[in-house]
Amino acid sequence: MGWNSWNHFGGKVTDADIRSAADALVSTGMRDAGYVYVNVDDTWQGQRDANGVIHPNERFPDMKALGDYIHSKGLKFGIYSSPGPKTCARFEGSMAHEEQDAKTYAAWGVDFLKYDLCTFQDVMKAEPDPLLRKKLMVDAYTKMGAALRATGRPILYSLCQYGFDDVWDWGPQVGASMWRTTDDIKDRYERMFIIGNSEAELARYAAPGHWNDPDMLEIGNGKMTEEEYRTHMSLWALLAAPLLAGNDLTKMSPADREILMNKDVIAIDQDALGKQAVRVYQRGEFSVWTKQLSGGRTAVGLFNSSWTNFAPAVDLGKIAVEHGGHIHDVWMHEDLGVSHGELSLPVKSHGVRLLIIDPQ
Ligand code: GLA
Repeated sequence: MGWNSWNHFGGKVTDADIRSAADALVSTGMRDAGYVYVNVDDTWQGQRDANGVIHPNERFPDMKALGDYIHSKGLKFGIYSSPGPKTCARFEGSMAHEEQDAKTYAAWGVDFLKYDLCTFQDVMKAEPDPLLRKKLMVDAYTKMGAALRATGRPILYSLCQYGFDDVWDWGPQVGASMWRTTDDIKDRYERMFIIGNSEAELARYAAPGHWNDPDMLEIGNGKMTEEEYRTHMSLWALLAAPLLAGNDLTKMSPADREILMNKDVIAIDQDALGKQAVRVYQRGEFSVWTKQLSGGRTAVGLFNSSWTNFAPAVDLGKIAVEHGGHIHDVWMHEDLGVSHGELSLPVKSHGVRLLIIDPQ
């Protein structure tokens, strides 16, 4: 869990923005809620010197000092690069400099690397055989994984190659702890919901230390309604997704804070079993996801992606939890009593009901 600069600041991010984000993680209580990584995404890079050593650009005067500042707040420092010659924003990538860059990151105190395919796709295009093309990519990711390990510093390795070639199959082998499963999220309900739902078949690839990543959060960026952001947070929590906030933390509304810091929802995401939810039911615009939690509990999400509010009947015993149990609604902060059978709860348009069912 943490924060990443891209969704809000994009290519204009500065050292000052990152420091403000670190300060805000502490002052808002987000750090204590679990958001500890402060990740600088694309566009921090400057030029390489005569020895090939990468330097930041003028917006980032001193990366080691920035890392020290982040660490002084009890937070971790994340950075971004590409296996290609250039990043997606056409800044300097790590191709042919993997070991050197990994050493530089370690010297700056980096704790996390997002490694984004970007222009490596041009290198791949030159190879006509699809299997060899995949091998080129896997080799490139393997190379940086090995370079990070060789630094001796624990650096969480996050793959970003949009889910090509079943990355969930080979991600763990290259040393990755998480891998993006799709192309980029947008601050729009439809795009967010498609991305989350595209992980419906991937539950078995998630486990402690190995996470499917449906991309960073858009909560607080302003283009979805509160109800839609609750849906976003609920779906990501059920998916056991990495929770990387992507908003301006210095300008959060009370609703943004409440959504990002709901303790029960975070606990669903971070549950010790590390299970990803399964979509157990889908009819038209109504779907139900269940996630097995520790202590024999189950998280159940009821999603309504239609344009109208409705109260679908859910046969708990049949589609969610065999013997039912005590039901707690984590957004309403309300106990709904014991239920074993059919349940009918209103779910708003584009909304969600997120429940924890405890058989005890
Ligand atoms: C790609 C990634 C994004 C972001 C940008 C930066 O699009 O998927 O998450 O890192 O590159 O250029």
